[in-house]
Amino acid sequence: MNRLIILGVVAMMLVGANCSATTNQSNATTTPKPSTTQPTTTATLTKPDDPSRNATSPNTTTSNTTTTRPASPDNPDSPDTTGATGLGDSFYPTMGNGGYDALHYEIQLNINPTNNTIKAITTIKARATQQLSTFNLDLSGLSVDIVTVNGTHADFSRNDTELTVVTPEPLTAGAEFSTVVHYSGEPEPISDAGVPFAQLGWNNNESVIFTANEPSGSMSWFPSNNHPSDKATFEIHLTVPDSFTAAATGLLTNETRENGYTTTVWQMSDPMATYLAAVYVGEFERIETDLPNGPLIRDYIPLTNSEGIAEALAITPAVIHYFEELLGPYPYDVYGTIVMPFRLGFALENQTLSIHGRYAINPSTIAHEILHQWLGNSSTLDDWRDIWLHEGFATYLATMYMAEHHGWDLNEQMAAQHGYMAEVGSTPPRKISQAELFDASVYHRGALTLHALRNFVGDNTFLEILRTHYQQSAHANTNTAEFLEIVTQIAGSEATQLVESWLYDDPIPDLQFNL
Ligand code: ARG
Ligand code: ZN
Repeated sequence: MNRLIILGVVAMMLVGANCSATTNQSNATTTPKPSTTQPTTTATLTKPDDPSRNATSPNTTTSNTTTTRPASPDNPDSPDTTGATGLGDSFYPTMGNGGYDALHYEIQLNINPTNNTIKAITTIKARATQQLSTFNLDLSGLSVDIVTVNGTHADFSRNDTELTVVTPEPLTAGAEFSTVVHYSGEPEPISDAGVPFAQLGWNNNESVIFTANEPSGSMSWFPSNNHPSDKATFEIHLTVPDSFTAAATGLLTNETRENGYTTTVWQMSDPMATYLAAVYVGEFERIETDLPNGPLIRDYIPLTNSEGIAEALAITPAVIHYFEELLGPYPYDVYGTIVMPFRLGFALENQTLSIHGRYAINPSTIAHEILHQWLGNSSTLDDWRDIWLHEGFATYLATMYMAEHHGWDLNEQMAAQHGYMAEVGSTPPRKISQAELFDASVYHRGALTLHALRNFVGDNTFLEILRTHYQQSAHANTNTAEFLEIVTQIAGSEATQLVESWLYDDPIPDLQFNL
């Protein structure tokens, strides 16, 4: 059993809290012994010094161009026209590619749910950020049949998850170009060292196809610049036999039937990171709720084993309203939850259509995934080491919602989470290793970091910091250095030092209660 799930059970037993990767275990009735759950590596992990810790400039955002290979120093007249094969992420250095900025994906999937195969065409519109004679896309498995660039047949080669495309004509820096990849086969789920408790990407379980990509799994079903620092708009076309229901992230804009097949079109006109795109095929009922002042709500409930699900999801509009008051308008035109007919082991905030396991539809998990639409999906990390910016914030703000609407006591929750972290040992959120990407420390100590900041600066200043952080990075990317810059500007350097001690220092600081 993985550590996160065990920790989640303990945390829930203690405080009634949960992190969304753990809530399928909510029926546990015995208290596991914390001492047996602590991996031996926790306290001893050390990482090279983190450059953002002492950053003095807010302009530390990673961009595609920073890791692109420079012109050859030996021969400055002949620039290197090879797009870099990775963006140098702390944990996923080969994920994403250099030399271009993806603008729009059109993904057409013709799905045979019985054989679990696809025949697919993905079109990538991008802008070259340097001169390019070759560039890479990330794709795992499947067979690539044809690639074209600007309508002309292009040579390509494959090496592990890198698909290298040779441009038929050199692309000049700044030029927009369109790449079409025809591919087919049976998508294979991905093993990712950051997510030892799940198979990522394309999954097929009990006659349901679902995708859960965070962080690397998208490349199991479409070729892309697979890193969250390069967001783009999306249009997803799904063709399935009439007897199945298909759904995807985005707004359903078209549905046509022909020869026993139904094709649906899903528009995402706001920027989306590749890991947040998702498709689902199975037997589901679509339930729409029209709000007078809010996004369209559409949920997907399994046809079997559906008791109580619609009732559990009925809190969605109230949760959205609560976070809108806190952070600003809901970022998209649609939201909903798709519930699997089986236990999943995690929930995931796919943009506009979160996926939950059958037994993970309690209010705090629902609120957690909804909060991610602001922090995680709209305001997105630019390096996976910053995952606490997603999970710590979602844990804390969902707990605030639970305190406001479901009778939880915020201080009690935080005291219990602190007690637990102190007892079992926690890795400071900015010191995690890749294997600790979804460690309980990221969730609970991340949340405690925000609670400590709030205790120090007071409610009003804290809310101003939250809002500024979200609004400055909405529909874009951010990082810890930018967050600390905002804390310094609004609350001063002592507040920043406090946040840094929670993010970087061993052992866990004491929690002061002033609220
Ligand atoms: N981001 C998810 C959450 O809301 C965790 C997802 C972990 N699972 C996965 N398959 N990547 O906490
Ligand atoms: Zn989360």
